[in-house]
Amino acid sequence: MLDKVKELIGEVNDFKATTKEELEAFRIKYIGKKGILNDLFAEFKNVANDQKKEFGQALNTFKQAAEGKINQLRETLEDADLNKSSLNDLTRPAEPLNLGSRHPISIVKNQIIDVFSRIGFTVSEGPEIEDDWHNFTALNLPEYHPARDMQDTFFIEQNPDILLRTHTSSVQTRYMENNKPPIRTLSPGRVFRNEDISARAHCIFHQVEGLYIDTDVSFADLKQTLLYFTKEMFGKSKIRLRPSYFPFTEPSAEVDIYWGLETETDYKITKGTGWLEIMGCGMVDPNVLKNANIDPTQYSGYAFGMGIERIAMLLYQIPDIRMFYENDVRFLEQFKSIS
Ligand code: DAH
Repeated sequence: MLDKVKELIGEVNDFKATTKEELEAFRIKYIGKKGILNDLFAEFKNVANDQKKEFGQALNTFKQAAEGKINQLRETLEDADLNKSSLNDLTRPAEPLNLGSRHPISIVKNQIIDVFSRIGFTVSEGPEIEDDWHNFTALNLPEYHPARDMQDTFFIEQNPDILLRTHTSSVQTRYMENNKPPIRTLSPGRVFRNEDISARAHCIFHQVEGLYIDTDVSFADLKQTLLYFTKEMFGKSKIRLRPSYFPFTEPSAEVDIYWGLETETDYKITKGTGWLEIMGCGMVDPNVLKNANIDPTQYSGYAFGMGIERIAMLLYQIPDIRMFYENDVRFLEQFKSIS
């Protein structure tokens, strides 16, 4: 009797099924109501008392083997079914793949980086929480300098030494501290100003700072670089430099590009002049070089800074700066096709 059960266990373990029907027939044969297992249980009373224990254990092993086999084969067959339905029909439309889109700020930032990296600029970054030295003092804006008022600063916990950087020019200072000329670097990043939020201004926005330092760098180099940039970025090749003032550059200028007066929008955004201001620039003030331990008698350089939102608004005709931060998918999805 015991040998018969052992034989059955072997049979069960060796069993294979390729269809659900075969598996069901197996189940009925071995553990169905009128199956072999129940027949064997019925035999139990005829087994000699001293063999009952061993026989009972063998029956249990048999039962577990049969049930385990059924579960395992059922899973295998179901998996196969699933694969068949999804993989065998190669003409089935694919699952829709929802590709995300880049934020317009990132798109424009990457374009700017791309244009300057082609002429040897590398990217550098600095902290958004800055100290007074890097954001102001080293940039020739000592305490009580009136130009500090132009940049409504957020201070951190009433400590006048720690602040949210008001411009990416702070990265200039850090970069000069840690690198020796020649320097060609571009520093994109987020900046903060305590300003009222409107369609044209926000308290958080983005800038890109450029810095070039070497021997014999002249204003002509700056102008030529800016011309190259405006051609590549906007496809416009007319610029003008208006004298201006920034504490960290001397001389300083504001860069306008000739946008044209072809459409009604052109009239509106250029206020009827055809000219658009896009950035500030100038020759790095010798004091700024000195503050970073670069000898101004040996080296000179230029710097420039521009707002990314402003450029993105121009390129994509975005009428309100707040749209960049609202995360409205109807706005963001419009940039889907742009890498
Ligand atoms: N930091 C200036 C701003 O936030 C922009 C700027 C102007 C940067 C002239 C420069 C520069 O590097 O040379 O308005």
